[in-house]
Amino acid sequence: MPDFADRLIAWQHQHGRHDLPWQNTRDPYRIWVSEIMLQQTQVATVISYYQRFMARFPDIASLAAAHEDTVLAYWSGLGYYSRARNLHAAAQRIVERHQSAFPQALNAILALPGIGPSTAAAIGAFAFGAQGAILDGNVKRVLARCFGIEGFPGDKAVETRLWALAQSLLPHTDIARYTQALMDLGATLCTRAKPRCTACPVSAVCIAWREGRVAQLPTRKTKCALPERETVMLILRYGLEVLLEKRPAKGIWGGMWSFPEVARETVLNDYLHQRFGARALRVTSIAPFTHTFTHFRLTIATLLVDVAKPLPSPGTMWLGLDEARAAALPTPVRRLLDAVV
Ligand code: ADE
Repeated sequence: MPDFADRLIAWQHQHGRHDLPWQNTRDPYRIWVSEIMLQQTQVATVISYYQRFMARFPDIASLAAAHEDTVLAYWSGLGYYSRARNLHAAAQRIVERHQSAFPQALNAILALPGIGPSTAAAIGAFAFGAQGAILDGNVKRVLARCFGIEGFPGDKAVETRLWALAQSLLPHTDIARYTQALMDLGATLCTRAKPRCTACPVSAVCIAWREGRVAQLPTRKTKCALPERETVMLILRYGLEVLLEKRPAKGIWGGMWSFPEVARETVLNDYLHQRFGARALRVTSIAPFTHTFTHFRLTIATLLVDVAKPLPSPGTMWLGLDEARAAALPTPVRRLLDAVV
């Protein structure tokens, strides 16, 4: 349907977003970092992180040369930290295998860690004008509605159909503006909960709009409750310092700094003695709270434990509060730190 792309392109000129910090450039590095930050994260949240990140890591070389902890610290609070580790690893790979120049071929972009087909196509379109279809969650919603595609877009068969559709809609010119238009439409008009169909440039050709099924498309996933997990975090405090522990590279919060965790039934003084040669002078319990991840909910109980100075332990560090706040902390850990000390 040539109409679809033409309408979107004309609409983007007039009503799209033109002044986001990663726009008005063809620098693939600036575009790449923005596309990674914008995966699963809203524009309003990303902007300040992006500006700080670009000021600290202005080019591929500076990112590749940085310590992973520094990169993670600049990502602290954005979530999905594997994005930051992959970005860092990809920068190093570009230095080693591409003479520090961001690759132009879509298959070379796609081969970098952390870049899937949609992100590769977005970078290709914005930086090089390359022809490629994007298909993130917002675009799936736009296409499912406009073309009346039934079925949960996360299902393989539905997704395959949406990819083919996205591919068939690509315009021959203006690929960057078209790509931006799809993103803008999904983010500003064709939203999940409150779509503004009366302002939509493709309402005249939209099947969901014509059939009064905008609220029913895309088909929702059949709900199953998220699994529940629990943990006990220990904030070990010695005077004005707290102990942070580096999490393993794999698993939640990989490579981030957090508080030691124990199982509920752990005997505190045995644990402190065995691991740190320390004992608790005073223990304060902090109200549990829940943090929701994509695949489970984690209830975090916390004990604030004042200790007599323990022995150093590998993979841990004692930090003053300001230093601790500057570390690569996941959001709940930052919240606990702010709440208790
Ligand atoms: N979401 C993903 N990529 C984006 C971009 N380039 N601009 C705005 N929102 C986006």
